[in-house]
Amino acid sequence: MSIESALNENRLFPPSDAFTSKSHVPSMQAYQALCAEAEADYGGFWAKQASARIDWHTPFTQSLDESNAPFYTWFADGTLNVSYNCLDRHLATRGDKVAVIFEADGGEVTRVTYRELHARVCRFANALKAKGVQKGDRVVIYLPMSVEAIVAMQACARIGAIHSVVFGGFSSKSLNERIVDAGAVLVITSDGQFRGGKAIPLKPAVDEALAMGGTGSVKGVVVYRRTGAPTAFDASRDIWWDDFQAGQAETCPPEFVSAEHPLFILYTSGSTGKPKGVQHSSGGYLLGALASLEWVFDFKDNDVFWCTADVGWITGHSYVAYGPLAAGGTQVVFEGVPTYPDAGRFWRMIQDHKVTIFYTAPTAIRSLIKAGGDLPGKYDLSSLRLLGSVGEPINPEAWIWYYNVVGGARCPIVDTWWQTETGSHMIAPLPGAVALKPGSCTFPLPGIMAAIVDELGEDVEKGKGGFLVIKRPFPSQVRTLWNDPERFKTAYFPPELKGYYLAGDSANRDLDGYFWIMGRVDDVLNVSGHRLGTMEIESALVANPLVAEAAVVGKPHDIKGEAVVAFVVLKGDRATGDAAKTIAAQLRDWVGQQIGPIAKPDEIRFGDNLPKTRSGKIMRRLLRSLAKGEEITQDTSTLENPAILDQLKEAVK
Ligand code: WT7
Repeated sequence: MSIESALNENRLFPPSDAFTSKSHVPSMQAYQALCAEAEADYGGFWAKQASARIDWHTPFTQSLDESNAPFYTWFADGTLNVSYNCLDRHLATRGDKVAVIFEADGGEVTRVTYRELHARVCRFANALKAKGVQKGDRVVIYLPMSVEAIVAMQACARIGAIHSVVFGGFSSKSLNERIVDAGAVLVITSDGQFRGGKAIPLKPAVDEALAMGGTGSVKGVVVYRRTGAPTAFDASRDIWWDDFQAGQAETCPPEFVSAEHPLFILYTSGSTGKPKGVQHSSGGYLLGALASLEWVFDFKDNDVFWCTADVGWITGHSYVAYGPLAAGGTQVVFEGVPTYPDAGRFWRMIQDHKVTIFYTAPTAIRSLIKAGGDLPGKYDLSSLRLLGSVGEPINPEAWIWYYNVVGGARCPIVDTWWQTETGSHMIAPLPGAVALKPGSCTFPLPGIMAAIVDELGEDVEKGKGGFLVIKRPFPSQVRTLWNDPERFKTAYFPPELKGYYLAGDSANRDLDGYFWIMGRVDDVLNVSGHRLGTMEIESALVANPLVAEAAVVGKPHDIKGEAVVAFVVLKGDRATGDAAKTIAAQLRDWVGQQIGPIAKPDEIRFGDNLPKTRSGKIMRRLLRSLAKGEEITQDTSTLENPAILDQLKEAVK
């Protein structure tokens, strides 16, 4: 399972003639020609892509503007509307085409055509306007996977409001922080959600978040009734979705905005305790989504696309709420979980909806192998022609299973490396061109100047590891961090790296030039493809009255990729025995309440102190070794109190 083993991976999977003959970029030469075009005239290359793929209201005359680095702009004098590009432009040719096949947790299927989706988005957009939501206002969306979530996002885009979707698994405290930081005027939520056959409440978290204060900007809460469970309702502030949009017209002229107008803010974890509000543009962002759909997913009009990501993450923005619609495609949207009613759910859905492109995360693949590695064989998966992977490196064992058992040794796998900040795929195979190596995300997309450099920004030789950077600004890149332009500069453009965009990952290129991602180099964990800051979890732990000090590290985990391990010093005596069990359980729940269940530590270890150097720095490398159960070979002579290492070896069971 280790990344080192992937580096010895030398199996090569060239595309079949059957696949290549029908693909948009059908050879290595065609891929290289696109890259060469971008090298030769970078601004011109992207301008040509932007003109061809987007319907502009006012055509742009500028391409990349680097005058205010690193606050780069693209196509800034052009105007467009993203919702117009996702809906209106398809009405004449694809009005009756199904845009969304929604499958509920319980199995009910709803099909929504482009014409219907357009009407629903317009009606909701009119309701937002009637409520006084204006261009540039922030709207927080806290909804389960649903057509309504897409409608809410598209309706914001339609009127130029900036949405910030908060994943339904985040706690009320996390929700409060995001509402406050964004200065949201409206929150859109639901009474609850169905997952795995159970109705789970959602609205109470909104009530708690708003009661925590700092939320004076919020003028109202729109509540979509999903479960029908009894729900506390404050009629002076809350309004049901149906009442909110009652009587609104089903047409709404789109608000045309500059290509640089913010489309959304999405919060993600960084190396401090405070999440970063990643701000994306309208034009460049949409271009990234559209170009990558064609290049990487080889997207065609008759495809049935299914990306399993929640709209609360960037993958659910670019490859659910925007990209597939902008491309005029048909996509599956799924409310539930892959293991309900059994671990064949994904495969049954691929069969029933005749999915042609399936995009999921390695953690899901690994857990489905474990829950029933032979289950795909019970279904007809012959509709599939392409598979995708995202969120973390995919280990070769999982890759080979995905390829053979799900893809019938017929479907290329596109391993897509990208980030919340990049908005769209950066390094990924163009499947009709590139021969695949299991575990490698292969080569950068055309026009993406990815490289691996040392601490001074110098390119490292092939075969050596280093920092993954992108040397030139690209259209779908993060524009700034909401409320924090200084952090934007320091986090992504450290001066010693020559102004390159620093991704925060380490990577390697093999002698054939293939990229292999090694993992984060900062204090960010990747748990089940979700990004969590160690500092965020540490801040949550020390906010508990029992805790004096805490340090959090990751440790390799078979299914989740990484698991959270917390080293905790209590204010009183070190907990042992049953007391340790009770307190560990309390602290896990506490972190769940502070951040969300995904951040709960797998293991908690109590010590009288944390291992520190004489200057007081926590020795994190040592903690990582302890978490993995490794023999300590590092020099511990500078440790203030070496005896605590024995205490920290044992996890509370
Ligand atoms: C981090 C970004 C991209 C959407 C989902 C996660 C890791 C992502 C891969 C991949 C190896 C990957 C990186 C990256 N990552 N995709 N194909 N191979 N690592 O978005 O939460 O912003 O996390 O996920 O470490 O920096 P995110």
